[in-house]
Amino acid sequence: MTLDVLLVAGARPNFVKLAPLYRALHAQHRLKSTIVHTGQHYDDAMSGSFFRELGIPEPEVNLEVGPGSHAVQSGTVMQRFEPVLMKLAPRWVVVFGDVNSTLACALVAVKLGIKVAHVEAGLRSNDWTMPEEINRVVTDRIAQRLYTPSRDASANLQREGIPPERIVFVGNIMVDTLRTQLPSLDQSSILRDAGVERGKYVLVTLHRPSNVDDGVRLERIWEVLERAAERETILFPTHPRTQARLKALAPRQTGRGVRVVDPLPYRSFLGLMANARVVVTDSGGIQEETTALGVPCLTLRRNTERPITIEEGTNQLVEPEPASFDRALHVVNGRRHRVPELWDGLTGPRIADDLVRLAET
Ligand code: UD1
Repeated sequence: MTLDVLLVAGARPNFVKLAPLYRALHAQHRLKSTIVHTGQHYDDAMSGSFFRELGIPEPEVNLEVGPGSHAVQSGTVMQRFEPVLMKLAPRWVVVFGDVNSTLACALVAVKLGIKVAHVEAGLRSNDWTMPEEINRVVTDRIAQRLYTPSRDASANLQREGIPPERIVFVGNIMVDTLRTQLPSLDQSSILRDAGVERGKYVLVTLHRPSNVDDGVRLERIWEVLERAAERETILFPTHPRTQARLKALAPRQTGRGVRVVDPLPYRSFLGLMANARVVVTDSGGIQEETTALGVPCLTLRRNTERPITIEEGTNQLVEPEPASFDRALHVVNGRRHRVPELWDGLTGPRIADDLVRLAET
């Protein structure tokens, strides 16, 4: 049987989106699929642990691109992906999300005349200073099949002139992973290991260049977190990018109160998210996961490509201003919210069905 579908992932958030589709395709036995890892994320905590925990096999191909500037990283992915694609010659390349690997692999595929499907299409922050916005818009423009997580994302694509027959509203695939994993978590031991009590801590993640590469802004964020840490536990698993920047802030910021720890594996992080009083983040995926869990989320950004998490979910944009941040941190609980349409754990099977239909017509 020839290879039908190549699933491409490169960075932490991709793995969480790839797993449900891989499983759904595998369960069908109708299409042959395989996984390529670009190696954009390479630490075990950022990559390998995800494959093990999510129950997906080690990728058959790892391009091992590692770190680099955006041009170096994207260029290396393209150079290494092209011969792999020529050899495997799949009918479809499926890319996920908005990381550099997403765009780089989509570009290589379309130029070889191989069709690209984009999972999590149509999200727009309209903020062109974000590398992810560039990756999203260009990937959507060149992909032939666009799987959207929400109706507003489908509307964005239509507004941009993408033919409606390419757009399929399938729901949020990360919720599939969340729903699969949540019931089997030993939440008590996750909380015990982290030294926190249910509902009595704030979980923080930050890695966006707009927050952590700007020393002045990072210092303001750090100050509001330190203030909050005088009143309750602030647990801060740090992405490598953030860890490096925080070190540069020392010794003036000693981090007495905020508990900075290494990045956590998916399941531990999920357990901590599910039991936090509030999550403070700048991640895209965590805005969605907290909405799916019904946990209040404060997003330290000026905009979001996921407005549905504000309109229907638990999310709120905040700035690192002491008074407004403190207020936001203490009035979050009790806001009305609902889980958005088709965030039901069945997005992977919907995409797999669609790919089978496409292959058979
Ligand atoms: C990338 C994505 C971002 C996503 C984030 C999630 C792009 C443009 N950005 O950002 O959309 O939300 O992943 O994690 O693709 N590093 C390590 N170990 C690793 C991976 C990275 O130390 O396993 C270091 C790199 O050397 C680099 C920094 O972290 O210094 C940033 O990594 P990079 O992949 O360039 O971007 P992210 O900030 O992770």
